Amino acid sequence: MNSHSDPHTDSGATRATTPAATSPKERLERSAATQPAHKISIRDLSIRYGPFTALSGVNLDIPVNQIFGIIGPANSGKTSFLNAINRMDMMRANMNVQGSVLFNGVDVTSWGNVYALRSKIGVVFPLPVGLPLSIYDNVALSPRLRGINNKSQIDEIVERSLKRAALWDEVKERLGSLGSLLSGGQQQRLTIARALSQDPEVLMLDEFSIAVDPVTTMRIEDVLKELKNQMTIILVTNLVQQANRLADRTAFFLNGSCVEVGDTDALFNGKVRDQRTDDYINGRFG
Ligand SMILES: Nc1ncnc2c1ncn2[C@@H]1O[C@H](COP(=O)(O)OP(=O)(O)OP(=O)(O)O)[C@@H](O)[C@H]1O
Ligand SMILES: [Mg+2]
Repeated sequence: MNSHSDPHTDSGATRATTPAATSPKERLERSAATQPAHKISIRDLSIRYGPFTALSGVNLDIPVNQIFGIIGPANSGKTSFLNAINRMDMMRANMNVQGSVLFNGVDVTSWGNVYALRSKIGVVFPLPVGLPLSIYDNVALSPRLRGINNKSQIDEIVERSLKRAALWDEVKERLGSLGSLLSGGQQQRLTIARALSQDPEVLMLDEFSIAVDPVTTMRIEDVLKELKNQMTIILVTNLVQQANRLADRTAFFLNGSCVEVGDTDALFNGKVRDQRTDDYINGRFG
């Protein structure tokens, strides 16, 4: 697994698509230019629930301002992986995390204030988590909890977040009505707007399209393509083609292991190290 943590040993796709360099110096410069900094680094991560091991020996790096896809069948450990990143283990008595999660190079366990950490790492769950609040208050909640009281400042955050989630035009005339009265797809975008109200550095989405129609799914996919210019996105998806469409790099999880991580184009073009990755991508199991 350790070999997967070294970007130079991943699929090799970056180099495969780069013209041959003429000198070692040029090769080094080119390699530096194609290797972005890492927003999150995972080292020897293992997750247990009581005696049961849900994930073990994961090593990978998540580059800045890219979409990092995670695919894999049910129970492979994808959600557990996200939960370790934003320290949900603190809220689950039976969840034990070993190894390290480095966020901007700093171990997440060294953050004294877990809420401050979570404001930097937003999460969107499979089903929209509708709060019994108006559309406006749904998005204003986190800024208010952060102590922002100025009405025009909150107005500005609400409008900007709803615009970034591609929902503003549909709701701007009825910001005072209940968020739960919106359609499923609109509610999922409201959830995204709520995550964006905190200006996160990382946005993690866990199978966001599970209860969303295909047209809304495509709209949200467009939103994510825009957002990746401003933040790092971790996209857990049960739709392998969604990873193919969106992710710069993709990891394949199976039975609690990260089988493979590499450049998405390479993986989807058969440049895999492990046959199981190719089988899963091509629907031969799972
Ligand atoms: N709180 C928990 N207590 C005990 N076991 C758990 C808990 N959460 C998850 N598990 C177990 O850990 C394993 C991995 O679960 P996880 O939710 O991470 O998988 P997943 O890849 O997200 O699956 P899915 O695609 O169905 O969402 C599963 O066997 C699951 O039953
Ligand atoms: Mg899951």
